[in-house]
Amino acid sequence: MSVDRGHAAATYDLVVVANRLPVDRVVEDDGTVSWRRSPGGLVTAVEPVMQSHDGAWVGWTGGPDSDEEPPEESGMRLVPVSLSEQEIEYFYEGFSNGTLWPLYHDVVAKPEFHREWWDAYVTVNRRFAERTAELAAENAMVWVHDYQLQLVPGMLRELRPDLRIGFFLHIPFPPLELFVQLPWRRQILEGLLGADLVGFQRPGGAQNFVRLVRQRVGHKTHRDLVYLPDGRTVEAAAFPISIDYDGLAELSRSEAVEARAKEIREQLGNPRHLLLGVDRLDYTKGIYKRLRAFGELLEEGTLDVEEAVFLQVATPSRERVDEYRRLRDEIDRLVGHINGDYGRIGRPAISYLHASYPREEMAAMFRAADIMVVTPLRDGMNLVAKEYVACRESNDGALVLSEFAGAADELKQAFLVNPYDINGMKSAVLDAMRAKPRDLNRRMKAMRKTVKEHDVAAWAAEFMGRLSEARPAHHKRLRPHDSD
Ligand code: ADP
Ligand code: F6P
Repeated sequence: MSVDRGHAAATYDLVVVANRLPVDRVVEDDGTVSWRRSPGGLVTAVEPVMQSHDGAWVGWTGGPDSDEEPPEESGMRLVPVSLSEQEIEYFYEGFSNGTLWPLYHDVVAKPEFHREWWDAYVTVNRRFAERTAELAAENAMVWVHDYQLQLVPGMLRELRPDLRIGFFLHIPFPPLELFVQLPWRRQILEGLLGADLVGFQRPGGAQNFVRLVRQRVGHKTHRDLVYLPDGRTVEAAAFPISIDYDGLAELSRSEAVEARAKEIREQLGNPRHLLLGVDRLDYTKGIYKRLRAFGELLEEGTLDVEEAVFLQVATPSRERVDEYRRLRDEIDRLVGHINGDYGRIGRPAISYLHASYPREEMAAMFRAADIMVVTPLRDGMNLVAKEYVACRESNDGALVLSEFAGAADELKQAFLVNPYDINGMKSAVLDAMRAKPRDLNRRMKAMRKTVKEHDVAAWAAEFMGRLSEARPAHHKRLRPHDSD
C-alpha cells in the first residue's frame, strides 16, 4: 500500500518513470494552462496499465522550467521533473533524439556525438533518479521506460538498493557493431545493469544487449542472464508491447465511429481503395518512400485517383531537430508534386494532414481504410499496425507492414514488405488491392486473434510478474541518513 504523509511526502509501491508524463502542459493564447495527451506509443501503452494500479508516474511536462503538478489521473499521481531550456536542447533534442534515436534505429540518419549533450543526459537522468528515490516506498517496484533514461536504473540502484527495478526499451536495441560507436557505451550498459529485469521489444534486442555486456563489460552471462560481481543477477528478455485491444475494438464498433468512418470515405470521394498511413513525422517511419511508391503507381497508370486515394496523417514531432525539419520539407514537396501531377479538381491523390486527433477520430480512420500502410525503415514495435487490426471487426481490410517493425514478428499474415524496396512495396499494395475477400478475411482473423490474446494488459502483467520474481525483496534499504 502507498503511504500518504501529505502529498509532498507520499510514497508509492509502484512508480513508473518515463521521459514524458502522459499529459503535456499547454499554454493557450489567453495564457490559461491546460493538459493535453502526450504523443507516441509509450503513452498509448503505459497509460491504460497505470490506470488499473495506484501509483505515481514521474516525467517531464513537455515544456521548459515547469514543475507544476498536473491533476491526478484515475488515482495515479503525476510527478513532474523540470527541464531547463538548455536541457531540452541538449538532453532531449540532442542526446536522446540526435544521438540515441538514429543510432538505435539502424543509423537511418547520422547520429551526432557531442560531449555537452552527454553531460546533460547524465544530469537529467540523475534528476529523474533522485525524484524517483524520494517517491518509491520501501521495496517498491519501479518501472523505468525508454532510451531517454538508460542511466536511471544504475543511479537509482545506488540510491535505493531495496527497490525492484525494471527497465523497458520501447525502441530497437542495436547490434554490437553499431552500438560500439557510442563514446559512452560502457556507461549506458552499466546504467541498464542497475535494473533487475531489462525488457526489449524483440528477442534480438535482448541478445544484442547480453552479447555487449559479455564482450564489452566482461560480465559472465548465460543465455538471457547476466551475473554481476556483487552477486546480483540481471535478466534480459523480450516483451512485445501491445494495445488496449478490447477498449479500441469496442470504440470502433460504436455507432458514432461507424458514422464518422462513412463520412470520411464520402469526404474523400468514396474511392474504391482508401489507403491510410498514420505516423509521427519521423524519418524512421518510411513515409517518403511509401508515398513515392504510391506516386509511381499513379504515374505508371496502374492506379488512378478516381479509384485510389491515400490519406496520410503525420503528426509533427521533435520539430526543432534539423533532421525532422528537413524531412517535413521533403514530404511537403513530394505530396505537392504528386497532387499537382495526378490530382483532379476536388480529388487530390494524397490527403495529407498534420493534426493530432482524438481516439474516436483515429478509430474512424482505421475503420474507413481498406489498406493500412505501415512501412517504417526500423521500428521498435509500431502500435498503429495493431490498432488498425483491432478496429477491423468485420475481418476485412489489409495491412501492408514493414518487415523491420517489431509488429512483423506477430502479425505474420500482413502483406510484409521491405520498406527500402519501392517496387516491392508497389507490388504489395497491388496484391492487397486484388486479394480475394476470403484471403483478407483469413489474414485479418488470425491477426486479430493474436493482438487480442497479447494485449497491453498481458504485456504489463508478464513484465511485472517477471520483475516480481526477479529477486527476493530482502535487500535492506540503505540511505546515507539510515546509518547516521
Ligand atoms: P511511436 O511510438 O514511434 O510514435 P507507435 O506507432 O508505436 O509509434 O505509436 C504511435 C501512437 O500515437 C499510436 O497509438 C497512434 O494511434 C498515435 N498517433 C499517431 N498519430 C496520431 C495523431 N495524428 N493523432 C492522434 N494519435 C496519433
Ligand atoms: O518509444 C517511442 C517514443 O520515442 C517515446 O519514448 C516517446 O514518448 C514517443 O515516441 C514520442 O516522442 P517524443 O516524446 O520525442 O515526442
